[in-house]
Amino acid sequence: MAGAASAINISDLRELAKRRLPRMVFDYIDGGAEDEMTLRRSVDRFDDFEWVWNSLVDVSEINTATRVMGQPNAQPFFVSPTAASCLFHPRAGELATGRAANAAGVAYSISTLASKSLEDIAAAAPDVPKFIQVYVWKDRGLVKDFLARAKAAGFTGCILTVDAVIAGNRERDPRNGFSIPPSVNWKTATQALARPGYLMDLARSPAIAPANFEGVDTGGRDVMGVINELFDRTMTWKDAEWMAQEWGGPFAIKGISTAEDARRALDAGASTVWLSNHGGRQIDTSVPVIDLLPEVRAAVGAGVEVIADGGVRRGSHVLKLIARGASSVALGRACLYGLAAGGEAGVTRALDIMASDVERLLGLLGIPDVSQLDERLLRPRAG
Ligand SMILES: Cc1cc2nc3c(=O)[nH]c(=O)nc-3n(C[C@H](O)[C@H](O)[C@H](O)COP(=O)(O)O)c2cc1C
Repeated sequence: MAGAASAINISDLRELAKRRLPRMVFDYIDGGAEDEMTLRRSVDRFDDFEWVWNSLVDVSEINTATRVMGQPNAQPFFVSPTAASCLFHPRAGELATGRAANAAGVAYSISTLASKSLEDIAAAAPDVPKFIQVYVWKDRGLVKDFLARAKAAGFTGCILTVDAVIAGNRERDPRNGFSIPPSVNWKTATQALARPGYLMDLARSPAIAPANFEGVDTGGRDVMGVINELFDRTMTWKDAEWMAQEWGGPFAIKGISTAEDARRALDAGASTVWLSNHGGRQIDTSVPVIDLLPEVRAAVGAGVEVIADGGVRRGSHVLKLIARGASSVALGRACLYGLAAGGEAGVTRALDIMASDVERLLGLLGIPDVSQLDERLLRPRAG
């Protein structure tokens, strides 16, 4: 297979990423918690739903546009927040993804643990909606400053992630001797030496660190240590309410999994409910999001934005989530495989693949506007 531009599907980008990255870095993207049941089942579960379609509908014009956190978005999908993108593409990291999202007209959400500054990312993606994801530091002053800086830089939405107050048990990482930033030891050295191109990029690029918290003394902890020791495990709905007020704009709670919590999120001041199991990286054997959507949609009503993510590798997966009640869908690994495979061009390819899948399938389904898609065209697989 040649470069990222010639990838036919997301699985091709994954293969390219695997060839480009040292095993420990690839496994950090690709892996999940414990036996990786949630990770696998979230992808496989899409196959248990099958389409019927509308015949003889004029599909010469197809509208794929949606709104995400109240903002216009060219597709029913956008980019989910993921930590430390410079690990996957040492030179450009989040800037590469931001540029690709900007060209595709889709929103970009960045992690608390982003490896480029908010301001540089905003400059890389000037034309699309941008959201910040927040993990809550014990020191609330850090959170307040982060929110204020994000607002000043033009970020319009804030996402509070609530399914990762404790880091999940991702067994590939200790097996590979992996940490962020990577450290050199007998386990990691051979993996790194097997990927000289990546090593050269890493050597020529700034050290990988949470770029928006440069002044914070992390006591030499790696990212898992930061999550487990410097983020606040005492967080409750009261704190979510505080953050929603502090932000004062579109606010999502990410990592919701019950109808009851979806309603509580709205009561706490969230405008958007985000169903997620963190890409199978937290609780293993958690219920795939596609199964939760109908009950959550029924609980919050038709007018509330519900975002869904997890296991999305094809445009058909995006549309199945929409048909089951999601307003829009966030892409995690699909973009990360692209980023690792080819930087900006790789993310562009991932977003192009998804966009053409979505447009083609809407046409085949006889749905000229994605807003018309609902559960009537999707059936649980018989037998
Ligand atoms: C490598 C990696 C890092 C991630 N980092 C974060 C993060 O910092 N904050 C967050 O809210 N979610 C994070 N996520 C979860 C994603 O936002 C998203 O929920 C998940 O990847 C969706 O599943 P998918 O990768 O199968 O599409 C991360 C996911 C991956 C794969």
